[in-house]
Amino acid sequence: MDLVYNLLVALHLLGMAAVVGGWIAVRSGRTVVAPILWGARAQVVTGLALVGVAEAIKDDEHHVNNTKIAVKLVIALVVLTAAEIGAARGRKGRDTGSLLDVAGGGAVVNVLVATLW
Ligand code: HEM
Repeated sequence: MDLVYNLLVALHLLGMAAVVGGWIAVRSGRTVVAPILWGARAQVVTGLALVGVAEAIKDDEHHVNNTKIAVKLVIALVVLTAAEIGAARGRKGRDTGSLLDVAGGGAVVNVLVATLW
């Protein structure tokens, strides 16, 4: 179970890298590129799976702070919604406006919540 949990943490961090790294890389291009969208989807899926596995293990190392997780989930859904709408607009050749920054900036906020809370 620990191996599953640690693999999920690795995927969770790679998803974060895709969103934040993608955002930093394309900021001047103003488009929500595929890695940002798939990273935002991965964060919600791997984050929820981490909570499930942590609840199943439930020892001193694996415990869930429900308030913190609820805040992270709300921010992650804002990130995902911005990425989905931004990518859809991009496919139609329309400007993504500030949606790119909402997705990238929101992911950075979630990193701060994850590490500082
Ligand atoms: C944009 C979305 C997200 C970002 C950027 C993000 C980022 C991070 C980072 C950087 C960590 C590592 C923290 C550390 O090891 O100190 C982490 C851990 C974690 N995240 Fe997220 N997260 C996001 C969404 C979510 C969501 C939606 C959930 C659950 C609903 C979630 C649940 C968790 C859990 C349970 C851990 C603990 C892993 C451990 O044992 O260290 N995350 N997250």
